[in-house]
Amino acid sequence: MWAPFRVETGAIIAPRPLPGIDGIGDRLRTAAFAEMQAERAFARAAEIYSDAPESLRSAWLHLASEENRHMNWLLGRMKELNIDIVERPVSDSLWNSLMSCKDARSFCHYIADSEQRGRRAGLRFYDVLKDIDPTTAEIFSKIAEEEIRHIELAFQFYPIETASR
Ligand SMILES: [Fe+2]
Ligand SMILES: [Fe+2]
Repeated sequence: MWAPFRVETGAIIAPRPLPGIDGIGDRLRTAAFAEMQAERAFARAAEIYSDAPESLRSAWLHLASEENRHMNWLLGRMKELNIDIVERPVSDSLWNSLMSCKDARSFCHYIADSEQRGRRAGLRFYDVLKDIDPTTAEIFSKIAEEEIRHIELAFQFYPIETASR
């Protein structure tokens, strides 16, 4: 189901340090697998959440294609750097959490939260890598840029009600 990754449910593997090549590989692998889980989750959401408006369901399909593009940038970079995808396992906990979202609103908020965390991590990697490995750094930065619109979409359709004064 998750080729070319090696999935171990519940795997918690601390990434090796940056800016070593192993550390770069670990971040690329984890990010690429997060993109794959997001791609499939958006495609599935468009199919199953009948409570979502039609415009959101078509937006999800577009996001799924963007996540696929992100994944391919990351996998392409791993190939260029000769990083072995299956050297380390990845965890499917994001996917499992997304599967348990009961409606469109909770799905939107859960995935946006995860995209927000991924975006912050991507910006940190950009900072650490920009002088050492600018090609990889640029990929993380470009993805972080596109994720802004993914995150906004969730709150555009399902704003968080703030407590009144
Ligand atoms: Fe993405
Ligand atoms: Fe995204």
